Amino acid sequence: MSIGGSIMLYSDWTLSNNEYDPKERQARDALFSTGNGYFGIRGFFEEDNETIGANGGIYMTGVFGMGSYDAWEGKSSELCNLPNVLRVCISCNDEDIDGFSSISDFSQSLDMKKGVYARRYLWKTSDGRRLELCFERFASMHDIHRIGQRITIKALDKIDNLSVAALLDSDVTNLNLASGEPFPIQPGRNHFISRNVRTNALSVTLDDPDSTVLNFAQQTFAYLNGKAVTGRITTNSKACGTAYTCSLNKNEVFTLEKIIFAVTSLDESLNPEQEIEDFLSKPASYEQELARHCSALSDKWRVADIEIDTNTTDLTIVRYNIYQLLCVCPEHTDRFGIGARGLTGEMYEGCVFWDNEIFVLPFFLYTNPSAARKQLMFRYHTLDAARRHAKNNWFEGAMYPWQVDRKGVEQTPVNCGAFYAIHITGDIAFTICRYWELTQDDEFMLSYGAEILYETARFWVSRCDYNSFDGKYHILSVRGPNEYDVYVNDNAFTNMMAVYNLKSVNSVFKKLKDRHPDEFDKLFKRLGASHEEISKFCEVADKLNIPYNAQMDLYLEDDTYLIRRKLDLKRAKPTKKRIIDSTLPYEALPLYQVTKQADTVLLCCLFPHLFTKRQKENVYKFYEPRTAHDSSLSYSPHGILAADIGLHEEAYRYFKESAYLDVNDLQLNTINGLHFANFGGTWQIVFHGFAGISASNGKLYIKPALPTQWNRISLHCLFLKQTVKITIDKSSIAVKRLDGDTPLTVCVNNQDYLIDDKPLTIDY
Ligand code: BGC
Repeated sequence: MSIGGSIMLYSDWTLSNNEYDPKERQARDALFSTGNGYFGIRGFFEEDNETIGANGGIYMTGVFGMGSYDAWEGKSSELCNLPNVLRVCISCNDEDIDGFSSISDFSQSLDMKKGVYARRYLWKTSDGRRLELCFERFASMHDIHRIGQRITIKALDKIDNLSVAALLDSDVTNLNLASGEPFPIQPGRNHFISRNVRTNALSVTLDDPDSTVLNFAQQTFAYLNGKAVTGRITTNSKACGTAYTCSLNKNEVFTLEKIIFAVTSLDESLNPEQEIEDFLSKPASYEQELARHCSALSDKWRVADIEIDTNTTDLTIVRYNIYQLLCVCPEHTDRFGIGARGLTGEMYEGCVFWDNEIFVLPFFLYTNPSAARKQLMFRYHTLDAARRHAKNNWFEGAMYPWQVDRKGVEQTPVNCGAFYAIHITGDIAFTICRYWELTQDDEFMLSYGAEILYETARFWVSRCDYNSFDGKYHILSVRGPNEYDVYVNDNAFTNMMAVYNLKSVNSVFKKLKDRHPDEFDKLFKRLGASHEEISKFCEVADKLNIPYNAQMDLYLEDDTYLIRRKLDLKRAKPTKKRIIDSTLPYEALPLYQVTKQADTVLLCCLFPHLFTKRQKENVYKFYEPRTAHDSSLSYSPHGILAADIGLHEEAYRYFKESAYLDVNDLQLNTINGLHFANFGGTWQIVFHGFAGISASNGKLYIKPALPTQWNRISLHCLFLKQTVKITIDKSSIAVKRLDGDTPLTVCVNNQDYLIDDKPLTIDY
């Protein structure tokens, strides 16, 4: 499998690359990212002091600086590139090691089981003396405030003077890779308005409206052939650290180990300065931090891993997709969402979209519901911003903005279409209901979820228009997932999400009232709810137009899709470039039957029990040839639906597009950050598509559609607070409940099976 023409290597738990290609370097920086939900760290070269690589590429969840354009409530925000806390300056016999044109024996690898990124190469001085350099790093899953770094330098010839300075360096700017080509477009902004540089500790104040303060400290340890070496403190106005010098005989080894600690004013810490002092006063140990990190990560893998028995590289790539999801999830807080590019790049300013609810969260809903709850709480904490957004746009209730920063404020530039992209409001409501259905977390629903459902239902009522000629409600001027529509009336996806949202209030309230009458009364009052209003929600839901052609038994993307012109996709998209970047202007697209990304196809995936098999087939056959896949969010729904309707080869083809998307730089923008919706989508093709698992009405449905290339898959999921292990081979399904004591119902081929303490094997 190749990225930019060179080879990626796959072994069970490791993704690696043995070729140094300067043109691909920054895309691979993104590809070899690691993280722990607090930090995201690109795979940049920490010894590079000359090129854009000197800026590093380290991000923290929720840490935004002041952006460059006017957003909907003032200046935009953008994910801030942190001080380069991994910076190292290495020189050998007075020559700096930072030009990479003459390196050899290069390799870089990501060990996903251990969560360690490593790099190695040989370097030569101008008089031919050779060094072997190895770098490794991890962001601790045990103590999320810590990063570990180890650098090993072996002299292959005698070296008179090796100098290594381990720094915390605030002399960086954002990478500003926004367009990806040519690179870089212009220097990015530096977000630090003030700095406080001390001995092995550095604080910076950001240019955001809250003047967020970030504090970092480091402990460094150096060894010559295993024997401790003392360093000297070094500081300037922007950086601080410890520098070491020594000479090395042939085959002697210098090792630097470093632990970084960070705490910010966004953390719940009462006294960040004290925490920095405490860290500096207790010697850390790299080996110990690493061991703790590996063990915390292996706890996550226990449920998250999917084992695939296959002769292909698919096992490793599925693990890669899952690994990145584990690395991005901020489990320490419920105040920050997961951005479209996570913490691996600056595209979309680090903002959160519907990608999170519809693509990323299903993985957490089924493998780590408490992490999913925190993501939904992020939406609760930003409910006031959604209320404000509704009001500012002359609507009622809560209208969730399309692209948000940590405060939930719309970050799309003004007049660029965010006003139309309202399906996100229904997507959030949908996921709240899914979370509740899978967990029965009544406390969440009573305290938070129901309020979101009610406020968003109010929004839909105010956003719909009644047409007395056809007796139906309509949603006008809207943009569905197919953004190439520019805007349409009655996008089926949006309207069905609105119907679901509106109806959910009634059904959720009934259950809450039954189970918790007293708390329910309080909730009802708190919301200012009324039975008349709930009846209105139901009336609008019942009469909301869903475009459908009875003759074709086909759900229509919107009210004009059928009468638009056919588009010659081969002409419109001759290369991998998006249509709007290559052949036709954006304004031309509503003339044509062209779908940017899965739209009605996605609808069938979200409601697998609502459409008949024939309707799903019709949707797939009609829209698939008209879809440009000009977004990474397109492949997985196509894979899931293809698996559902028995198109096995198609399903596997779409799985490959999705699973290998960043490794192959399929969208030509991996340089700007990894595609997290797509990672979640890959997991969904395996889980919902190939394993065929879905949940509805308190039952787990299993309808396997294993690719011919796979013999068996084995995975875990959490359903109704119990962990279930499911193993599927070519003809049978083995289900085992690993904890809990409530029997679970599993439905295979329309037959229900009760799973109690004993494992069950079902032929299919
Ligand atoms: C897609 C959106 C998506 C956004 C962020 C766009 O290209 O069309 O659906 O939310 O990227 O990933």
